[in-house]
Amino acid sequence: MGERLNVAVLISGRGSNLQSIIDACANPDFPASVKVVLSNEPDAYGLERATQAGIPTEIVPHKAHPSRKEFEEAMQAVLAKYDIDLICLAGFMRVLTSDFVAKWEGRMLNIHPSLLPAYPGLHTHERVLANHEKESGCTIHFVTPGLDEGPTLLQKRVPVLQNDTAETLAARVLEQEHIAYPEAIRLLALGKVHYSKEQVEVDDVEPYAPPRTNEIAAPADHTHKSKEIPSMDHHNPSSTHIDPAAIAQAKATWSLFAEMMKYSVIGSAGILTLMALSLL
Ligand code: GRF
Repeated sequence: MGERLNVAVLISGRGSNLQSIIDACANPDFPASVKVVLSNEPDAYGLERATQAGIPTEIVPHKAHPSRKEFEEAMQAVLAKYDIDLICLAGFMRVLTSDFVAKWEGRMLNIHPSLLPAYPGLHTHERVLANHEKESGCTIHFVTPGLDEGPTLLQKRVPVLQNDTAETLAARVLEQEHIAYPEAIRLLALGKVHYSKEQVEVDDVEPYAPPRTNEIAAPADHTHKSKEIPSMDHHNPSSTHIDPAAIAQAKATWSLFAEMMKYSVIGSAGILTLMALSLL
């Protein structure tokens, strides 16, 4: 592998994880760069993100290929064209054959929104909530032929809160996904990851600090491309994201401050009165 790892990100939709990888790779010190974004869905919103970042996109529609084998051969040709070292599956909704997986053994990662091996497959958050779990999170793992199997590279944990819905839990997990994927790529590119079929060992390194962004996730209805791109361009420093939790926190701090001021005014008035009385 060269100085910067050549990465292909495979997507099918929204591409918010893709965005976190693009943002990380925009730093010239980051040891990897996204060479191509490949989608099996022609209208995946992530393709817009790649184009906006000046990254080549390739569409390999699975429907246009008569068999899984031919579909994967077309993808393989794209990966060869861009001299790819590492594949990152980021919301890529096709199951890959064991032949393709074997070709990329130890060089293909996937992200899953649960603490694998718990909750593989779809609808993870709903199932986590139905089982009253106290904790959930996300997993970056190497891809093996079994669905959401394969040795784990890293995990990020989040609490499950009492009033969580699948949407609020998904949002909390997604925030961690956006940290986890660049961190995993960085570890791999720095040679800190020792892969074997059974397990993965990771050397101790400083944790990854993601770049500050205003907003990564596109609105839920922008899984697919549309002519009207929402003003979520987080490369644009003027775009703002107002976090309701931050507003609530600011309000609480302000009322505490006001309360303290009130008592200090009352206290000072009392002291002045006592001083005045003592002068009489
Ligand atoms: C993420 O939750 C990821 O864990 C799962 O699919 C989702 C993709 O989201 N595999 P996005 O397209 O990256 O926004």
